[in-house]
Amino acid sequence: MKSIKFDFNNIFSVNIGNTHGVEDKDILEISKDIREGHEHLKKVTSIALNRIKLGLEWIRLPYQDPKIISDIRKLGNEIAKKYDNVISLGIGGSYLGLKAAQDALASPYYNEFTTVRKKRSRIYFEGNNLDPDTLAVLLKNLNPKKTFVVVISKSGETAETKAVFMVVESWLKRSVGKNYGRQILAITDPELGSLRKRVSEENSKDSLSFRSLELIKGVGGRFSEFNMGLLHLAIIGVDINELLSGAKDMAERCGREDYTENPAYMYAILHTILYRKKSKPLAIIMPFAETLKSTADWYVQLLAESLGKKYSRKAEVSCDGVEEWFRDENNTVNLGRTPISCRGTGDLHSLQQNNIEGQNDKVVTFIRVERFRNEIKVPVGGDILSGRNFSELMQLAQEATEWALVRESRPNCTIILPEISAYYWGALLFFFEMATAFEGELLNVNAYDQPGVEGYKNYMHYKLGKTGIPKNVVDQISANPLKKDSKYII
Ligand code: PA5
Repeated sequence: MKSIKFDFNNIFSVNIGNTHGVEDKDILEISKDIREGHEHLKKVTSIALNRIKLGLEWIRLPYQDPKIISDIRKLGNEIAKKYDNVISLGIGGSYLGLKAAQDALASPYYNEFTTVRKKRSRIYFEGNNLDPDTLAVLLKNLNPKKTFVVVISKSGETAETKAVFMVVESWLKRSVGKNYGRQILAITDPELGSLRKRVSEENSKDSLSFRSLELIKGVGGRFSEFNMGLLHLAIIGVDINELLSGAKDMAERCGREDYTENPAYMYAILHTILYRKKSKPLAIIMPFAETLKSTADWYVQLLAESLGKKYSRKAEVSCDGVEEWFRDENNTVNLGRTPISCRGTGDLHSLQQNNIEGQNDKVVTFIRVERFRNEIKVPVGGDILSGRNFSELMQLAQEATEWALVRESRPNCTIILPEISAYYWGALLFFFEMATAFEGELLNVNAYDQPGVEGYKNYMHYKLGKTGIPKNVVDQISANPLKKDSKYII
């Protein structure tokens, strides 16, 4: 069986010159960081308590109990057979992985055609924004009696998902009546949060109402597609075992100490050098496949939330190897590459102009697909395009983009996917997760928290009159209102 390949030729000085390209000596310069990063990651993940406390349990997700997978598959099939529609509510890590899987692994136009989706439920994603327009139209047009709702929130407290769920719940209740809760399933923390509390209350009245799946402890939202995304995969009929087997094989490759045999380490090392030594703060992720655009969006969240950090990480290690990580407030670093997602070939007619001639401050990562699920040939005739397969044209366009970037000394690299299948997609996600984790080690930041997201949440909670907000947060908000001088508004 073929495996995913990582081609990093166009990152090296031999192709793009030594002002912008990496040289072997650049890697040697950080070899101590590489060795220590590997040793630390290995050590910290070898202790279950560390994995759970620090948010590294995702590393074990490829090895889940087959019984759990088979139960989820049965549940997914049951929902898919019984309901015409599934509304999936969630935001951030509770949405992006599912959307990415939907686009990559379900057939294109899945919702539009019954035969394409093999008579399974249509999927609608909501709760990932507060836009009343999308929700209003959806609820006006779906039949609540034929709709199942999956609400996903690890914390159970996220405003967007919570608000939409409240609306959807009352919509179901109005039409379905007292047993409406049997059309709801919650995926949330096993103990904490208001969603879990709600599940327990409803379950105690009717065990079929508000069924739930428990999220595995120590897995943060953006690292949890192989956990919270499984029911969705089962509903749309994806082979979860294949997906996890791809992830497992990639985990084996990405566990190797030798970075020349470890694609995730190599990816992280080269991007760290380009970022820190060659002034490349922008990360353009560009799959040449329409169905992988949302996988690129998923990676945007992974990179931005994991590595965009104000403070460096301070680790305190006890004698039994258990670690505590702190934000080192004496060490402001403001680190993190800025990810931008796009897709070939569409964005060759947009972002590409800037990639080629704008500031040389980016690294482009292509995802190239060797074999598409369908093939179409341009009809024979008197044109250079005549008789060509679309996949051949797509690959040529990707190769041409690489060439154009190299001509302008722009670093770029390519992840080569033999095909878009559950196996390779599972491997791809694990590759990106591991690369991000290792990049976090090289930058010495905590890749598993997102304190920067709290600012807007606190402000919203304050304005909405939530009780129990810490006094220092309240003081900070009330003493620093936004200044809106009409002088600066025209
Ligand atoms: O990666 C993360 O942890 C976040 O992006 C969360 O997934 C996101 O904020 C949604 O949180 P929750 O699942 O608690 O509603």
